[in-house]
Amino acid sequence: MRIRFSPPINRLTTLACVSVLAVATSTAVPAQQAILEGERFHPEVSEKGMVATSHFLASKVARDVLADGGNAVDAAVTAGFALAVTQPRSGNIGGGGFMLVSDEKSGEVVAIDYREKAPAAAFETMFQNDEGEAVSELSRYTHNASGVPGTVAGLAMALEKYGTLSLAEALAPAIRLAEDGFALPQRFVNGIRDIRDRLEPWDGSRKKFFKEDGSLYQVGEVFKQPDLAATLKRIAEQGPQEFYEGKTAELIATQMEKNGGLMTMEDLANYEPAIREPSHGTYRGHDIYAMSPPSSGGVHIVQMLNILENYDIGKTGFNSANTIHVMAEAMKRAYADRSEYLGDTDFVEVPLKGITSEGYADELRSQISMDKATPSSEIAPGNPLPYESNETTHFSIADGNGMAVSNTYTINFSYGSGIVVEGAGFLLNNEMDDFSAKPGVPNAYGLLGGEANKVEPDKRMLSSMTPTIVKKDGKNFLVTGSPGGSRIITTTLQVLMNVIDHDMNIQTAVSVPRIHHQWLPDEIRIEQGISPDTIALLESLGHTVSQQEAMGAAQSLMIEDGVFTGGADPRRSTSSAMGL
Ligand code: DON
Repeated sequence: MRIRFSPPINRLTTLACVSVLAVATSTAVPAQQAILEGERFHPEVSEKGMVATSHFLASKVARDVLADGGNAVDAAVTAGFALAVTQPRSGNIGGGGFMLVSDEKSGEVVAIDYREKAPAAAFETMFQNDEGEAVSELSRYTHNASGVPGTVAGLAMALEKYGTLSLAEALAPAIRLAEDGFALPQRFVNGIRDIRDRLEPWDGSRKKFFKEDGSLYQVGEVFKQPDLAATLKRIAEQGPQEFYEGKTAELIATQMEKNGGLMTMEDLANYEPAIREPSHGTYRGHDIYAMSPPSSGGVHIVQMLNILENYDIGKTGFNSANTIHVMAEAMKRAYADRSEYLGDTDFVEVPLKGITSEGYADELRSQISMDKATPSSEIAPGNPLPYESNETTHFSIADGNGMAVSNTYTINFSYGSGIVVEGAGFLLNNEMDDFSAKPGVPNAYGLLGGEANKVEPDKRMLSSMTPTIVKKDGKNFLVTGSPGGSRIITTTLQVLMNVIDHDMNIQTAVSVPRIHHQWLPDEIRIEQGISPDTIALLESLGHTVSQQEAMGAAQSLMIEDGVFTGGADPRRSTSSAMGL
């Protein structure tokens, strides 16, 4: 079964029709109307550039930057700061993330690592009690849950190296949105209502997120953030060092001191983002670039694609039992390796070459039977933990001059630690929970880790964030990534496969139901929309299948024959793709 039915035209020929129509018709038919006859999902279309983010206000300001002649990095940094204002559950200046930048002209794809770091006083057992048991409350909801934030330094570095705007120009829309406010969408109001208990204990959080009488804001009310606006203004005036050495740093350090947090002014002053080489592999003639350690995402995307490349996935078909079976088998093996080998390569040796090699993929593939699921206990032992509700945010941006940006950043859970820095107006992350609090004890996403990911001073905690750029014939082709904790890697994998194996347009590729396996728990997690017949077939192979809530939010774009298509993930009500 193929996703495209009749007429039998594939994505490329459909796109080619756009240009023909544009030239051949005198009363121009908007490309959007012509492009995808016969499809169920329709991407945003443009011939000049594309922005896809999880919030329409961020998409709009980033699109405006492109329209004014800014490049993809200018637009990405502008979007990053705007999301910190419009979507504080994950958009941030108090967290960290990863950005991939691909410049077709130089042929370079670079990765900017602005992941948070453990403070210098952090130590291996800091999230254990006197009995040596891991205490998740400590790594999630205290001041010590927060790693040293990297976002301001990372976005500033991206802009300085690859952008054309000044930092003040990139911050201006965010400052305006924080100062003047914006009308609240339902999703924002629901988010605060759901997380109320975690925010209310903290003075800074109460001041930011609730009205003076303690009541909740309602849909459509204008939400202003004066403290955050002042912080962003200081950064605009004094540069990124203001956050790390100026008044903002003092506000963070004071908050830490008052509440027993380990992070100091020195930790902030010492923070530096890093330029990394992305993980690279090939899949059916495409070059795949994705985030390298301290994220596990790129390594395991390449590993899983290497395993899957030898199956005729296009033929076994989208979400058929056979396809899901081999995907789940590949996923299990990748996540088992993740738990053992992955950590910050500045601190530990990670066998990157081996994990991403085709020889190793051949070995793993030889263990996969088409007739029977391999129980995870035969791959390695461990303990499952239920999934947490959570939120990160990904955006994809491409300009008309061959530059593309794939960015995922986070404060870990929705609203991070729940703690807003008093007087500074932004939330602190709870990324320290991504370290392994104790070998064999899973983090909030049920992910296990060992020695390689233990807490150490100044170390970056292991991530799953997978900003990805796929090139075809040397040109930017697909830009994608997702939130979703442990599901990030598999969500991103499926967007790639949906486009490359199943020939879907980008809106279809991000919309259709997804599956996930992470070795432990030993179950295929599925979204609504997988047929009961398929589930029965998977169960007959020995898989446990569990339908749970939607996974990820893969704001993505594609570029083919000079036509940009954007796919906003329907799993977030504020998602938006905007073309120029
Ligand atoms: O870096 C990581 O892998 C996690 N801190 C990401 C958290 C996340 O994606 C939350 N959810 N949507």
